[in-house]
Amino acid sequence: MDRSLVLLKPDAVQRGLVGELVSRLERRGLKLTAMKMLQADEALGRRHYEAHAGKPFFAGLIEFITSSPLVALVVEGPGAVRAVRSIMGETSPEDSPPGTIRGDYALTIGQNLIHGSDSEESAEREIGVFFTPDEVLDYDRGLDRWITES
Ligand code: RTP
Ligand code: MG
Repeated sequence: MDRSLVLLKPDAVQRGLVGELVSRLERRGLKLTAMKMLQADEALGRRHYEAHAGKPFFAGLIEFITSSPLVALVVEGPGAVRAVRSIMGETSPEDSPPGTIRGDYALTIGQNLIHGSDSEESAEREIGVFFTPDEVLDYDRGLDRWITES
C-alpha cells in the first residue's frame, strides 16, 4: 500500500494545531501507521531535507525544523503521497486555496505547518529517516472496506 511521511512542523505544535491536522488526514481516509513526537537535531533535519542542501533557504529551513518539537507520522492509503499533498496545499501558503491546510492556517512559506513526501521514492527514504521498520505498524482497520475497496 502507498505510504507518505508527514511532519507536523514546530509551528503546528506551538500553535496547538496537531489534533486539527491529524484529523484532516484521518477524515480523508488515510490510515495512521506510525506517530511520534520528537525534537529534530541538526543531523536529523539535514538528513530529512538533504535534497535542499545548498539552496539559499536551507540554513533557515534547518533552523526552523529543529527549533521546537514536531510530530512525525506515517500514513497509508491508495495514492497516499498525492492525497497528502492535496490536503497540504502548495509550498507557499499564498498559492494555497482555502480548504487546504496551508491555505487555511498559514501565511508564510517558512512556517507552512506540514510536510508531506513529494514522491513514493522520497516517502520510503523519509520514513526510514524517522522510523525503524518495527515502529511502523501493520494492522487491519475494519472501515477500510468502506474507503479503499473498489
Ligand atoms: P515540505 O518538503 O516541507 O513538505 O514542503 P514542500 O515540499 O511544499 O516544499 P519544498 O520545495 O520541499 O521545500 C521545503 C521547505 O523549504 C521551504 N522553502 N522555502 N524561500 C523559498 O523559496 C523556499 N522554498 C522552500 C519551505 O518551508 C518548504 O516547506
Ligand atoms: Mg518537500
